[in-house]
Amino acid sequence: MPAAKPTVRRLLAVTEAQQRQLAELLVDCVDGGASVSFMHPLTMERALAFWHGVAEGVARGERALLVTEDAQGIVGTVQLILGQPENQPHRADVAKMLVRRRARRQGLGAALMRAAEDLARKCGRTLLVLDTASEDAERLYARLGWQRVGVIPDYALLPQGGLCDTTYFYRVLGEHVAHGASPE
Ligand SMILES: CC(C)(COP(=O)(O)OP(=O)(O)OC[C@H]1O[C@@H](n2cnc3c(N)ncnc32)[C@H](O)[C@@H]1OP(=O)(O)O)[C@@H](O)C(=O)NCCC(=O)NCCS
Repeated sequence: MPAAKPTVRRLLAVTEAQQRQLAELLVDCVDGGASVSFMHPLTMERALAFWHGVAEGVARGERALLVTEDAQGIVGTVQLILGQPENQPHRADVAKMLVRRRARRQGLGAALMRAAEDLARKCGRTLLVLDTASEDAERLYARLGWQRVGVIPDYALLPQGGLCDTTYFYRVLGEHVAHGASPE
């Protein structure tokens, strides 16, 4: 029997329990060496402070937060940064695409990105932009049809130290195609 299709949902408000699960997910990714704005070791306190700020942005409508869960809680997430300058109302950034190490390579990253694209369309956005220091993520985005722009060398520090490049991608969103995600 084929594996069940991952379910992705949008959180319109982020509870403290959800902020804790998201913080645990972020700590897991940084422990695994992901270059996602934080240095190692990332404490739960700092991770919770980050997600508290995200929750405030979600409440203000500046960010859209998508999650996917298993029986133990949130195992994957991605955000759309909807709050853009007034001359870029058609655009959003994609940020903090994170999947727990134990839940990787099951299609969750792809499901999260498809759901983010569908939600962006519903929000009237036609252009998405992101950058990544992850080769796993680069393969994922290229496979999903994102356009690779180029590399900025020595852009950020890896969690354990040492500079890493970042690679920019964009995607022009065409006609709406439902991918089965539930954006609301
Ligand atoms: C990048 C990231 C989000 C990908 O998440 P993921 O859930 O593993 O992504 P997917 O499962 O959709 O795809 C990953 C791989 O699994 C494969 N895969 C998907 N479903 C599969 C299945 N059922 N069985 C076997 N393999 C599968 C995909 O083909 C892909 O293969 P590839 O790496 O050889 O190209 C994850 O690695 C991550 O969180 N990394 C750390 C944080 C980070 O760097 N994020 C990017 C910031 S921009």
